[in-house]
Amino acid sequence: MRRDLRGRVVLVTGASRGIGRRLAGKLAKLGARLALTARSADDLAKLAGDLRADGTDVEAFPADLTSPADRERLVGGVVGRFGGLDVLVNCAGVCSFGEFSTSSEEVGRRVLEVNFFAPAEMTRLCQPLLTRSYEGGYRPAVVNVASICGRWGIPSMSEHCASKHAFVGLTEALRGEFQRFGIDVLLVLPGLVRSDDLNRHLLRNEGKIYLDFEGAQPSDAVADGVVRSLLRNKTEMAVGWVSWGVWWSRRLFPRAVRFFMQRKVWKYARRHPEG
Ligand SMILES: NC(=O)c1ccc[n+]([C@@H]2O[C@H](COP(=O)([O-])OP(=O)(O)OC[C@H]3O[C@@H](n4cnc5c(N)ncnc54)[C@H](OP(=O)(O)O)[C@@H]3O)[C@@H](O)[C@H]2O)c1
Repeated sequence: MRRDLRGRVVLVTGASRGIGRRLAGKLAKLGARLALTARSADDLAKLAGDLRADGTDVEAFPADLTSPADRERLVGGVVGRFGGLDVLVNCAGVCSFGEFSTSSEEVGRRVLEVNFFAPAEMTRLCQPLLTRSYEGGYRPAVVNVASICGRWGIPSMSEHCASKHAFVGLTEALRGEFQRFGIDVLLVLPGLVRSDDLNRHLLRNEGKIYLDFEGAQPSDAVADGVVRSLLRNKTEMAVGWVSWGVWWSRRLFPRAVRFFMQRKVWKYARRHPEG
């Protein structure tokens, strides 16, 4: 199956920067009508203005997705402006890089709020609209941008891994449930991505294992992966060679992956004997 996005209404969360921002540009080129959301109103307005100047039918809806009132307002706004919805891309997210023992309940709950509860509730709110799209003859979809951390726990990213495992579990459960509504539920698993602004992406940046944030894959490549998954209706897609490698290795050589992760922890323990 190949999904046609021309003239279709796509809601992208996390569109103010990073993967979501690149994705908006690519969807615009494919002729989609775009509803863009994130908290940063100025960044969203600028992006929407640029895309509109290029001929895209686009609207910015600033919202904090952890707020139930904002979510309701957002979805109501999309219906008011576009009359319906064909695709929801849950891309907004945060990360926390640091050891569990020195973190806090507050950080854990915040990460789960943004990475799990917000997209879960967005999906619940949007499902009736997507069902209507199916009844109108289209093949609607929810695309969840999780992480390879949702398939394998990485040391120094406990809260992030927990949130993404929960998100992956939700995705798999809904994939079954939503068949009866005619909605495809797709999963994209990026590996490490070079961030536009690491300080805004990371709630904490204190992790001790070595991660090459600067040398990671660009957001643009992940946005390409999201587009591919949508167009080809790919149920699950690991994006980038690190993610792809972990995805396959955990199936074929799980002990080797475990050993590799342990080695990273031994290395930092040697570098930081104080703990
Ligand atoms: N970067 C990586 O290494 C990596 C790796 C694997 C998976 N991922 C996943 O890919 C997705 C995008 O990541 P990215 O690298 O593009 O991150 P990013 O550059 O930090 O962008 C995150 C987006 O989420 C939005 N956002 C954060 N909190 C929000 C909230 N409470 N309400 C509404 N919007 C909110 C941000 O906008 P505002 O701040 O304006 O609200 C921003 O647009 C995330 O789900 C992330 O977990 C990233």
